[in-house]
Amino acid sequence: MQTGLVHLHSLLRWIILVLLVVSIIKSFAGWQGKKAFRPGDAKIWLFTMISAHITLLLGLYQWLAGRFGILTTSLPEGISVMKDKFYRFYWVEHPVGMILAIVFITLGRGMAKKIVSDETKYKKAFIFFLVALIIILATVPWPFRGIVGRPWFPGM
Ligand code: HEM
Repeated sequence: MQTGLVHLHSLLRWIILVLLVVSIIKSFAGWQGKKAFRPGDAKIWLFTMISAHITLLLGLYQWLAGRFGILTTSLPEGISVMKDKFYRFYWVEHPVGMILAIVFITLGRGMAKKIVSDETKYKKAFIFFLVALIIILATVPWPFRGIVGRPWFPGM
């Protein structure tokens, strides 16, 4: 089950990235084209947020009770989290970065419900989603990231 949950967590990254890029393109087009707000866009923003929140729950489980969870792992004598590249990444950098990104995705989706002009909705959502995308790209354990790197796709 543990492996399945990590695989699901890993796979969801692609779903979030695709939905986030679509959300960014649509909010940019809406903002620049001064378009009336479309319910279809709100739906895509909602799906982006839902997939991010599911990934968050799976991540919290990995962080607490996974293979390298803070409750299930005892660090070797003399090793401090912040001095160890692997544990600093999985216990601090990755969770903090991703939680921040998910907050931005939630704020972006929240613009759909805000009582502001359609142009402001699209503009602010665009900024929130773009910031989230940058943080996600910077904190995913991509295969080229040395000791913390993981495969492009689960099970590879
Ligand atoms: C948008 C949100 C997130 C994305 C896209 C994401 C992405 C990933 C990816 C691609 C991996 C590598 C999985 C593999 O081994 O193939 C991973 C691992 C991990 N993530 Fe996340 N993550 C997110 C949020 C979080 C959060 C919020 C936490 C903690 C609170 C978290 C904790 C972890 C942990 C502990 C691992 C290592 C699991 C293990 O190897 O046993 N993640 N994440």
